[in-house]
Amino acid sequence: MAIVCKSAAEIDKMRRSGRIVRDVLDHVRSLVTPGATTMELERAAEKKMKELGAKPAFKGYFDYPCVLCTSVNEEIVHGIPSEKRVLNAGDIVSVDCGVVLDGYYGDAAITVPVGEDIKPELKKLLKVTEESLYRAIEAARIGNAVGDVGAAVQEHVEANGFSVVREFVGHGIGTRLHEEPQVPNFGTRGHGARLREGMVLAIEPMVNYGKPETRVLSDKWTAVTADGSYSAHFEHCVAVTRNGPVILTQ
Ligand code: MF3
Ligand code: CO
Repeated sequence: MAIVCKSAAEIDKMRRSGRIVRDVLDHVRSLVTPGATTMELERAAEKKMKELGAKPAFKGYFDYPCVLCTSVNEEIVHGIPSEKRVLNAGDIVSVDCGVVLDGYYGDAAITVPVGEDIKPELKKLLKVTEESLYRAIEAARIGNAVGDVGAAVQEHVEANGFSVVREFVGHGIGTRLHEEPQVPNFGTRGHGARLREGMVLAIEPMVNYGKPETRVLSDKWTAVTADGSYSAHFEHCVAVTRNGPVILTQ
């Protein structure tokens, strides 16, 4: 499959699905508090999606069982919500949400502190990860390459002493959740596919406090840091337009 460029009308539709993803994430964020379980977040998200008239994108995707991924502390991505997973003060939880509306997908993620005071090192991890996302978005311009996007993430993350995950990457998105091209969080400026008008990218830095290596738990989904260090994840869908990058999950 080649890279699919979207018309202005299609990008408008993706703005609508992106808007719903954002509303769901805002709602979930307000429920992140010590003592909450990740399954409570899941149920609230599923209800909100229904209210807003969208279908979940993740549930049933390769047999994934839930509408959210909730990844706590050393979990990087694809953590499965559970009644047994209680959030504690000082934890961080990454919440990843995808929906489909009128045939078009939206996908975004945030990492949220649990309680008022997480360790300063963790605050820095969240800040640097989100900053690296915005630097990557800035690089999502016509004529740049996919490698410019990845390099923007990698340079900022490594300059701050953290590491980028290699095994999981961002992606094109549109009428399918995952389209070409792959969008790694590392790369070389000028390398990889050229960005063209109408491309929509899900850019999603996954940043580890310690080493970059990962492993997947026996549930076959949850990806964790191999060294047990904390990990953060932020994601937006971004359209490459004549007027520069446009965030669709705002
Ligand atoms: N945002 C993630 C991704 O783009 C979430 C996928 S979870 C899955 O891969 F269950 F749908 F696989
Ligand atoms: Co994604």
